[in-house]
Amino acid sequence: MHILVSGGTGFIGSHTVVELLNNGCDVTVFDNLSNSKATVIDKIEKLTGKRPAFFKCDMNNKAGMNRVFSSAHFDAVIHFAGYKAVGESVEKPLMYYENNICGTLVLLDMMKKYGVENLIFSSSATVYGIPEKCPVTESSPLSTLNPYGRTKLMIEDILRDVASADKTFSTVLLRYFNPVGCHPSGLISEDPNGIPNNLMPRIIQAVRGQIPELTVFGDDYDTRDGTCIRDYIHVVDLAKGHVAALDYVTSHKGSVAINLGTGNGCTVLELLKSFERVNNLKVPYSIAGRREGDSPAVYADTSLAKELLGWTAGLGLDDMCRDAWKGACMNG
Ligand code: UFG
Repeated sequence: MHILVSGGTGFIGSHTVVELLNNGCDVTVFDNLSNSKATVIDKIEKLTGKRPAFFKCDMNNKAGMNRVFSSAHFDAVIHFAGYKAVGESVEKPLMYYENNICGTLVLLDMMKKYGVENLIFSSSATVYGIPEKCPVTESSPLSTLNPYGRTKLMIEDILRDVASADKTFSTVLLRYFNPVGCHPSGLISEDPNGIPNNLMPRIIQAVRGQIPELTVFGDDYDTRDGTCIRDYIHVVDLAKGHVAALDYVTSHKGSVAINLGTGNGCTVLELLKSFERVNNLKVPYSIAGRREGDSPAVYADTSLAKELLGWTAGLGLDDMCRDAWKGACMNG
Protein backbone atom coordinates (compact mmCIF):
# COMPACT_ATOMS: atom_id res chain seq x y z
CA MET A 1 0.00 0.00 0.00
CA HIS A 2 1.13 3.56 -0.72
CA ILE A 3 0.13 6.02 1.99
CA LEU A 4 0.12 9.81 1.74
CA VAL A 5 0.86 11.47 5.09
CA SER A 6 -0.01 15.16 5.57
CA GLY A 7 2.06 16.76 8.34
CA GLY A 8 4.40 13.79 8.22
CA THR A 9 7.45 15.63 9.60
CA GLY A 10 5.61 16.63 12.79
CA PHE A 11 5.67 14.85 16.15
CA ILE A 12 2.96 12.21 15.71
CA GLY A 13 3.26 12.21 11.90
CA SER A 14 6.96 11.31 11.86
CA HIS A 15 6.48 8.48 14.37
CA THR A 16 3.62 7.14 12.25
CA VAL A 17 5.74 7.28 9.07
CA VAL A 18 8.37 5.12 10.84
CA GLU A 19 5.73 2.51 11.76
CA LEU A 20 4.24 2.54 8.26
CA LEU A 21 7.66 1.98 6.66
CA ASN A 22 8.47 -0.76 9.18
CA ASN A 23 5.20 -2.44 8.17
CA GLY A 24 6.13 -2.50 4.48
CA CYS A 25 4.08 0.48 3.26
CA ASP A 26 5.34 2.96 0.68
CA VAL A 27 5.04 6.46 2.08
CA THR A 28 4.85 9.96 0.62
CA VAL A 29 4.98 12.87 3.06
CA PHE A 30 3.96 16.47 2.55
CA ASP A 31 4.35 19.21 5.14
CA ASN A 32 4.66 23.00 5.00
CA LEU A 33 7.41 22.80 7.68
CA SER A 34 5.71 25.53 9.74
CA ASN A 35 6.32 23.55 12.95
CA SER A 36 8.89 20.91 11.94
CA LYS A 37 12.10 20.45 10.01
CA ALA A 38 12.89 18.70 6.69
CA THR A 39 15.83 16.93 8.40
CA VAL A 40 13.22 14.67 10.06
CA ILE A 41 13.09 12.80 6.72
CA ASP A 42 16.83 11.95 7.07
CA LYS A 43 16.18 10.69 10.60
CA ILE A 44 13.28 8.53 9.43
CA GLU A 45 15.58 7.03 6.79
CA LYS A 46 18.23 6.37 9.43
CA LEU A 47 15.71 4.56 11.63
CA THR A 48 14.02 2.47 8.95
CA GLY A 49 16.55 2.17 6.10
CA LYS A 50 13.84 3.58 3.81
CA ARG A 51 13.33 7.13 2.63
CA PRO A 52 9.80 8.41 2.16
CA ALA A 53 9.12 10.74 -0.78
CA PHE A 54 8.85 14.29 0.54
CA PHE A 55 7.12 17.45 -0.73
CA LYS A 56 7.34 20.81 1.04
CA CYS A 57 3.79 21.90 0.41
CA ASP A 58 1.00 23.79 2.15
CA MET A 59 -2.48 22.22 2.00
CA ASN A 60 -3.95 25.50 0.74
CA ASN A 61 -1.55 25.57 -2.24
CA LYS A 62 -3.65 23.86 -4.90
CA ALA A 63 -0.89 23.74 -7.54
CA GLY A 64 1.45 22.13 -5.02
CA MET A 65 -1.24 19.69 -3.87
CA ASN A 66 -1.83 18.69 -7.51
CA ARG A 67 1.88 17.91 -7.78
CA VAL A 68 1.72 15.77 -4.63
CA PHE A 69 -1.36 13.83 -5.76
CA SER A 70 -0.08 13.27 -9.30
CA SER A 71 3.25 11.85 -8.02
CA ALA A 72 1.75 8.39 -7.27
CA HIS A 73 -1.52 6.59 -6.67
CA PHE A 74 -2.34 6.57 -2.95
CA ASP A 75 -4.41 3.89 -1.23
CA ALA A 76 -5.09 6.12 1.78
CA VAL A 77 -4.29 9.49 3.32
CA ILE A 78 -3.35 9.97 6.97
CA HIS A 79 -4.08 13.60 7.79
CA PHE A 80 -2.00 15.17 10.60
CA ALA A 81 -1.35 18.63 9.13
CA GLY A 82 -2.81 21.37 11.29
CA TYR A 83 -2.03 24.02 13.84
CA LYS A 84 -2.39 22.71 17.39
CA ALA A 85 -1.66 25.34 20.04
CA VAL A 86 -4.76 26.09 22.11
CA GLY A 87 -3.64 29.56 23.31
CA GLU A 88 -2.55 30.68 19.85
CA SER A 89 -5.90 29.56 18.43
CA VAL A 90 -7.69 31.91 20.84
CA GLU A 91 -5.50 34.82 19.70
CA LYS A 92 -5.54 33.99 15.97
CA PRO A 93 -8.79 32.11 15.25
CA LEU A 94 -8.90 32.96 11.55
CA MET A 95 -5.40 31.56 11.05
CA TYR A 96 -6.61 28.29 12.61
CA TYR A 97 -9.80 28.10 10.53
CA GLU A 98 -7.93 29.01 7.33
CA ASN A 99 -5.20 26.46 7.84
CA ASN A 100 -7.02 23.56 9.49
CA ILE A 101 -10.47 23.79 7.89
CA CYS A 102 -9.75 25.27 4.45
CA GLY A 103 -6.66 23.06 4.13
CA THR A 104 -8.73 19.96 4.86
CA LEU A 105 -11.28 21.02 2.21
CA VAL A 106 -8.49 21.28 -0.37
CA LEU A 107 -7.20 17.86 0.71
CA LEU A 108 -10.67 16.32 0.32
CA ASP A 109 -11.05 17.96 -3.08
CA MET A 110 -7.76 16.42 -4.21
CA MET A 111 -8.75 13.01 -2.87
CA LYS A 112 -11.97 13.15 -4.92
CA LYS A 113 -10.13 14.36 -8.03
CA TYR A 114 -7.45 11.69 -7.84
CA GLY A 115 -9.73 8.82 -6.73
CA VAL A 116 -8.39 8.33 -3.17
CA GLU A 117 -11.20 6.97 -0.98
CA ASN A 118 -9.68 6.33 2.44
CA LEU A 119 -8.76 8.88 5.11
CA ILE A 120 -7.52 8.61 8.69
CA PHE A 121 -7.91 11.88 10.57
CA SER A 122 -5.85 13.09 13.50
CA SER A 123 -8.60 14.16 15.90
CA SER A 124 -8.30 14.74 19.63
CA ALA A 125 -9.90 14.11 22.99
CA THR A 126 -10.38 17.88 22.97
CA VAL A 127 -13.71 17.15 21.21
CA TYR A 128 -15.07 15.88 24.56
CA GLY A 129 -14.64 19.35 26.15
CA ILE A 130 -14.96 18.98 29.93
CA PRO A 131 -16.41 15.47 30.18
CA GLU A 132 -19.21 14.83 32.68
CA LYS A 133 -17.85 11.38 33.45
CA CYS A 134 -14.79 9.23 32.79
CA PRO A 135 -13.75 7.07 31.10
CA VAL A 136 -15.04 8.82 27.97
CA THR A 137 -16.50 6.62 25.27
CA GLU A 138 -16.83 7.60 21.63
CA SER A 139 -20.51 8.33 22.22
CA SER A 140 -19.84 10.75 25.12
CA PRO A 141 -21.24 14.26 24.41
CA LEU A 142 -19.07 16.44 22.16
CA SER A 143 -18.24 20.09 22.87
CA THR A 144 -15.22 22.30 22.51
CA LEU A 145 -13.71 25.18 24.43
CA ASN A 146 -11.49 27.01 21.94
CA PRO A 147 -10.94 27.57 18.19
CA TYR A 148 -8.34 24.76 18.00
CA GLY A 149 -10.84 22.28 19.45
CA ARG A 150 -13.55 23.62 17.17
CA THR A 151 -11.39 22.95 14.10
CA LYS A 152 -11.05 19.30 15.22
CA LEU A 153 -14.79 18.92 15.78
CA MET A 154 -15.69 20.77 12.56
CA ILE A 155 -13.40 18.52 10.53
CA GLU A 156 -14.94 15.46 12.18
CA ASP A 157 -18.40 16.79 11.15
CA ILE A 158 -17.21 17.49 7.60
CA LEU A 159 -15.82 13.97 7.28
CA ARG A 160 -19.01 12.41 8.66
CA ASP A 161 -21.02 14.43 6.09
CA VAL A 162 -18.74 13.38 3.23
CA ALA A 163 -18.95 9.72 4.27
CA SER A 164 -22.74 9.79 4.37
CA ALA A 165 -22.99 11.54 0.98
CA ASP A 166 -20.35 9.46 -0.81
CA LYS A 167 -20.73 5.73 -0.23
CA THR A 168 -17.27 5.02 -1.66
CA PHE A 169 -15.60 7.13 1.09
CA SER A 170 -14.15 5.66 4.27
CA THR A 171 -12.81 7.59 7.24
CA VAL A 172 -11.51 6.78 10.72
CA LEU A 173 -11.38 9.68 13.19
CA LEU A 174 -8.71 8.90 15.76
CA ARG A 175 -9.22 10.82 19.01
CA TYR A 176 -5.83 11.04 20.71
CA PHE A 177 -5.52 11.54 24.44
CA ASN A 178 -2.20 13.03 25.67
CA PRO A 179 0.72 11.92 23.49
CA VAL A 180 4.15 11.98 25.16
CA GLY A 181 7.51 10.24 24.80
CA CYS A 182 9.31 9.62 21.53
CA HIS A 183 10.99 6.87 19.53
CA PRO A 184 13.24 4.89 21.94
CA SER A 185 16.28 5.81 19.81
CA GLY A 186 15.67 9.45 20.82
CA LEU A 187 16.35 10.40 17.20
CA ILE A 188 12.92 11.83 16.42
CA SER A 189 11.12 13.65 19.20
CA GLU A 190 8.76 16.46 20.04
CA ASP A 191 10.41 19.62 18.75
CA PRO A 192 7.88 22.43 19.15
CA ASN A 193 8.65 25.87 17.75
CA GLY A 194 8.17 28.64 20.31
CA ILE A 195 7.15 28.19 23.94
CA PRO A 196 5.64 24.79 24.72
CA ASN A 197 2.56 24.68 26.94
CA ASN A 198 2.06 20.96 27.43
CA LEU A 199 3.08 19.25 30.62
CA MET A 200 5.94 16.99 29.45
CA PRO A 201 7.85 19.70 27.51
CA ARG A 202 7.43 21.99 30.54
CA ILE A 203 8.79 19.30 32.90
CA ILE A 204 11.83 18.98 30.63
CA GLN A 205 12.33 22.76 30.53
CA ALA A 206 12.15 22.92 34.33
CA VAL A 207 14.74 20.12 34.74
CA ARG A 208 17.07 21.91 32.35
CA GLY A 209 16.68 25.27 34.09
CA GLN A 210 15.16 26.83 30.96
CA ILE A 211 12.29 27.91 33.21
CA PRO A 212 12.80 28.43 36.96
CA GLU A 213 10.27 25.71 37.87
CA LEU A 214 7.24 23.82 36.66
CA THR A 215 3.98 25.50 37.56
CA VAL A 216 1.41 22.87 38.55
CA PHE A 217 -1.99 24.30 37.68
CA GLY A 218 -4.18 23.53 40.69
CA ASP A 219 -4.02 20.99 43.51
CA ASP A 220 -7.59 21.45 44.72
CA TYR A 221 -9.39 19.25 42.19
CA ASP A 222 -11.49 16.35 43.40
CA THR A 223 -8.83 13.77 42.41
CA ARG A 224 -6.58 11.46 44.47
CA ASP A 225 -3.84 14.08 44.96
CA GLY A 226 -5.78 17.20 43.93
CA THR A 227 -4.08 17.60 40.52
CA CYS A 228 -5.71 16.97 37.13
CA ILE A 229 -5.94 13.50 35.64
CA ARG A 230 -5.04 12.80 32.01
CA ASP A 231 -4.49 9.72 29.86
CA TYR A 232 -0.85 9.97 28.74
CA ILE A 233 -0.02 7.69 25.82
CA HIS A 234 3.37 6.86 24.32
CA VAL A 235 3.64 8.32 20.81
CA VAL A 236 4.97 5.00 19.46
CA ASP A 237 1.78 3.27 20.66
CA LEU A 238 -0.21 6.04 19.02
CA ALA A 239 1.72 5.57 15.76
CA LYS A 240 0.99 1.84 15.84
CA GLY A 241 -2.71 2.68 16.29
CA HIS A 242 -2.60 4.36 12.86
CA VAL A 243 -1.19 1.24 11.22
CA ALA A 244 -4.04 -0.76 12.78
CA ALA A 245 -6.55 1.88 11.60
CA LEU A 246 -5.18 1.58 8.05
CA ASP A 247 -6.34 -2.03 7.81
CA TYR A 248 -9.75 -0.95 9.05
CA VAL A 249 -10.19 2.11 6.82
CA THR A 250 -9.25 0.20 3.67
CA SER A 251 -11.67 -2.64 4.39
CA HIS A 252 -14.77 -0.68 5.53
CA LYS A 253 -16.89 2.24 4.25
CA GLY A 254 -18.46 5.10 6.19
CA SER A 255 -17.07 6.91 9.22
CA VAL A 256 -16.13 5.87 12.73
CA ALA A 257 -14.51 7.74 15.64
CA ILE A 258 -12.11 5.77 17.83
CA ASN A 259 -10.33 6.76 21.06
CA LEU A 260 -6.58 6.17 21.21
CA GLY A 261 -5.53 6.24 24.84
CA THR A 262 -4.28 3.79 27.44
CA GLY A 263 -7.41 3.94 29.59
CA ASN A 264 -5.22 4.75 32.63
CA GLY A 265 -5.69 8.11 34.30
CA CYS A 266 -2.55 9.71 35.76
CA THR A 267 -2.32 12.91 37.82
CA VAL A 268 0.13 15.73 37.14
CA LEU A 269 2.09 14.84 40.30
CA GLU A 270 2.17 11.13 39.40
CA LEU A 271 3.68 11.94 36.00
CA LEU A 272 6.18 14.27 37.64
CA LYS A 273 7.20 11.64 40.24
CA SER A 274 7.55 8.92 37.57
CA PHE A 275 9.77 11.25 35.54
CA GLU A 276 11.98 11.92 38.57
CA ARG A 277 12.27 8.24 39.51
CA VAL A 278 12.89 6.83 36.01
CA ASN A 279 15.47 9.45 35.04
CA ASN A 280 16.92 9.97 38.50
CA LEU A 281 16.33 13.71 38.28
CA LYS A 282 14.64 16.37 40.37
CA VAL A 283 11.85 18.45 38.84
CA PRO A 284 11.55 21.84 40.58
CA TYR A 285 7.89 22.79 40.84
CA SER A 286 5.38 24.93 42.65
CA ILE A 287 1.62 24.80 42.93
CA ALA A 288 -0.39 27.63 41.40
CA GLY A 289 -4.06 28.29 40.69
CA ARG A 290 -6.13 26.34 38.19
CA ARG A 291 -5.58 26.97 34.46
CA GLU A 292 -8.72 28.22 32.70
CA GLY A 293 -10.43 25.58 30.58
CA ASP A 294 -8.76 22.58 32.28
CA SER A 295 -10.91 19.56 32.93
CA PRO A 296 -10.38 17.78 36.29
CA ALA A 297 -10.14 14.38 34.59
CA VAL A 298 -10.01 13.06 31.02
CA TYR A 299 -9.21 9.44 30.27
CA ALA A 300 -10.34 7.03 27.61
CA ASP A 301 -12.56 4.04 27.35
CA THR A 302 -10.39 2.04 24.96
CA SER A 303 -12.68 -0.88 24.23
CA LEU A 304 -13.67 0.24 20.71
CA ALA A 305 -10.04 0.44 19.56
CA LYS A 306 -9.52 -3.08 20.83
CA GLU A 307 -12.71 -4.38 19.22
CA LEU A 308 -12.41 -2.70 15.80
CA LEU A 309 -8.66 -2.31 15.37
CA GLY A 310 -7.31 -5.09 17.58
CA TRP A 311 -5.09 -2.41 19.11
CA THR A 312 -4.18 -1.61 22.71
CA ALA A 313 -1.35 0.53 24.09
CA GLY A 314 1.63 -1.56 25.22
CA LEU A 315 3.96 1.02 26.78
CA GLY A 316 3.66 2.48 30.28
CA LEU A 317 4.40 5.70 32.09
CA ASP A 318 8.02 4.71 32.77
CA ASP A 319 8.67 4.18 29.03
CA MET A 320 7.07 7.55 28.26
CA CYS A 321 9.21 9.39 30.85
CA ARG A 322 12.46 7.63 29.88
CA ASP A 323 12.01 8.17 26.14
CA ALA A 324 10.84 11.79 26.48
CA TRP A 325 14.03 12.65 28.40
CA LYS A 326 16.25 10.72 25.99
CA GLY A 327 14.67 12.52 23.02
CA ALA A 328 15.15 15.88 24.71
CA CYS A 329 18.82 15.15 25.47
CA MET A 330 19.55 13.97 21.93
CA ASN A 331 17.82 16.85 20.20
CA GLY A 332 19.37 19.69 22.15
N1 UFG B 1 -0.10 21.31 33.38
C1 UFG B 1 0.54 21.89 34.45
N2 UFG B 1 1.57 22.72 34.19
C2 UFG B 1 2.01 23.00 32.93
C3 UFG B 1 1.35 22.39 31.85
C4 UFG B 1 0.29 21.55 32.11
O1 UFG B 1 0.18 21.66 35.60
O2 UFG B 1 2.95 23.78 32.77
C5 UFG B 1 -1.21 20.40 33.65
C6 UFG B 1 -2.52 20.90 33.08
O3 UFG B 1 -3.16 21.75 33.99
C7 UFG B 1 -3.26 19.60 32.84
C8 UFG B 1 -2.15 18.60 32.53
O4 UFG B 1 -0.95 19.17 33.00
O5 UFG B 1 -3.88 19.22 34.02
C9 UFG B 1 -2.01 18.31 31.05
O6 UFG B 1 -1.92 19.53 30.35
P1 UFG B 1 -1.44 19.61 28.84
O7 UFG B 1 -1.42 21.06 28.45
O8 UFG B 1 -0.18 18.82 28.65
O9 UFG B 1 -2.58 18.81 28.08
P2 UFG B 1 -4.15 19.07 28.01
O10 UFG B 1 -4.79 17.85 28.58
O11 UFG B 1 -4.54 20.37 28.54
O12 UFG B 1 -4.37 19.18 26.44
C10 UFG B 1 -3.95 18.16 25.61
C11 UFG B 1 -3.44 18.73 24.28
C12 UFG B 1 -4.55 19.31 23.49
C13 UFG B 1 -5.65 18.34 23.37
C14 UFG B 1 -6.10 17.86 24.72
C15 UFG B 1 -7.14 16.80 24.62
O13 UFG B 1 -2.49 19.71 24.50
O14 UFG B 1 -4.07 19.61 22.20
O15 UFG B 1 -5.00 17.31 25.41
O16 UFG B 1 -7.68 16.51 25.87
F1 UFG B 1 -6.68 18.89 22.73
